[in-house]
Amino acid sequence: MADRMVEAGTAIVTGGAGGIGKATVRRLLDMGLSVFIVDADEKSLDTVLSEFGSASGRLDGCRADVMDERQVTQAVDRAVARFGDIYALVHIAGGAGPKRARDIEDFQLQEWAHVMDLNLTSAFLAARAVVPMMRKRRAGRIVVFSSIIAGGEKGPLTTVTGRLPYATAKAALLGFTSQLAKDLAEFGITVNALMPGLILGEQGTRIRDKFDNLAPEQRAALLNGYPGGRPGTGEEVAAAVGFLLSDSAGFVSGVALPVDGAYR
Ligand SMILES: NC(=O)c1ccc[n+]([C@@H]2O[C@H](COP(=O)([O-])OP(=O)(O)OC[C@H]3O[C@@H](n4cnc5c(N)ncnc54)[C@H](O)[C@@H]3O)[C@@H](O)[C@H]2O)c1
Repeated sequence: MADRMVEAGTAIVTGGAGGIGKATVRRLLDMGLSVFIVDADEKSLDTVLSEFGSASGRLDGCRADVMDERQVTQAVDRAVARFGDIYALVHIAGGAGPKRARDIEDFQLQEWAHVMDLNLTSAFLAARAVVPMMRKRRAGRIVVFSSIIAGGEKGPLTTVTGRLPYATAKAALLGFTSQLAKDLAEFGITVNALMPGLILGEQGTRIRDKFDNLAPEQRAALLNGYPGGRPGTGEEVAAAVGFLLSDSAGFVSGVALPVDGAYR
């Protein structure tokens, strides 16, 4: 059964057209929330909107780049115009960037900054755009996406492209979460981070396709650190988001929650 919501509100889900995002959108709709997706990939966004039937009247979205200050503000304005004040921000958009490199000297400043902006600065921009509304209502939920990679990963590169800036940005998100949670607690706003392990969304989503295209021995090596011998699913992450957004989680804040099948 979906987590209970006393008063269904509106959630913005950035990256809602991706693997984890799609499962999360489905979960939040099941919980009775209205969902506004913000995603840079127009084609995937359109697919998700039509697949879930925006006709239900509780789902909409727009194309926007979460690294762009103006586009983030405009997207939040559109969400508010469509569904009213924002109850929850689920900031899923992120990634390790197009540059595949392991050694520090192989990163240009611009490549480093891109991964910082995509994962970290975007969280600042998105949260800054919704917090005034939440503060006024004295209620709100913010969930950001860190990763198990925040703790560093030994050995050669696997599927993660820019591992060093990615680990750095995902670790910095934990500090962001701790501080913002303390700053906003008196206003009834919770702020939490998820730390997923390897998560495969449904067929056709990016990480799933990447994983499926690996040689069997590469797949086995990737799963080696997982005691259960399997990756997680988008639904398993979405369930954790659902709990953090539910009424039951009002006193859970400033947490970095691993969803990684005991990988650590
Ligand atoms: N899948 C995993 O194994 C895993 C593990 C740990 C952490 N994470 C984190 O979880 C989040 C989601 O991962 P996923 O597996 O769903 O990835 P994904 O690539 O399937 O989805 C990411 C979504 O974000 C969107 N996006 C990318 N850049 C954007 C931008 N600049 N502006 C707006 N939207 C943008 C993409 O279009 C895509 O729809 C990411 O933050 C990722 O770092 C994923």
